[in-house]
Amino acid sequence: MKILLIYSSRTGNTKKVAEAIYEVLPEGSVICPVDDNPSYEDYDMIIIGFWVDKGLPDVKTLKYMENIEGKKIGIFGTSGAYNDSERGKKTLERTRQLLEPRNEVIAEFICQGKIDERLLERYKNRGPDHSNPMTEEKRKRHEEAKKHPNANDLNRAQEVFRKII
Ligand SMILES: Cc1cc2nc3c(=O)[nH]c(=O)nc-3n(C[C@H](O)[C@H](O)[C@H](O)COP(=O)(O)O)c2cc1C
Repeated sequence: MKILLIYSSRTGNTKKVAEAIYEVLPEGSVICPVDDNPSYEDYDMIIIGFWVDKGLPDVKTLKYMENIEGKKIGIFGTSGAYNDSERGKKTLERTRQLLEPRNEVIAEFICQGKIDERLLERYKNRGPDHSNPMTEEKRKRHEEAKKHPNANDLNRAQEVFRKII
């Protein structure tokens, strides 16, 4: 089985998960950033990794996904949402819906990923009057995110994709 793994990563979290998954793929598989816009026609399966923006894959990934048809697909992402959270599940569900029924999604994984320090700096200054204010709940979530993706996340991602090959 020829597998293409493409990923989009702004700050390195998704790249880390992508490289861990790539380690368990069969010889001959190809890993490639979405920026290189690789052709996927020759592959039996495509694994797509993205960072989450507004609950969906980032724009570059959305654009790449648009044209894919008739393929078996695996999806994985990293996001600011807690591991095993409803928000994470919802992102995977919405991503699957964007690919099906013209493709078949056969594996999925999502985990938390540390959030860009520059963005956190901006969030810090949002007072209670801001339309999207900083809260104690968010502060805790951002603190937890700083620990991810960790070794356990990488192992779990490998497990998911090991199973399907
Ligand atoms: C501009 C921006 C927007 C983001 N929007 C969301 C979001 O809507 N939901 C979410 O859960 N995480 C969001 N995040 C967090 C990222 O998805 C998360 O940190 C991810 O692991 C980044 O992956 P990367 O290091 O591969 O770029 C956002 C991060 C940035 C920088």
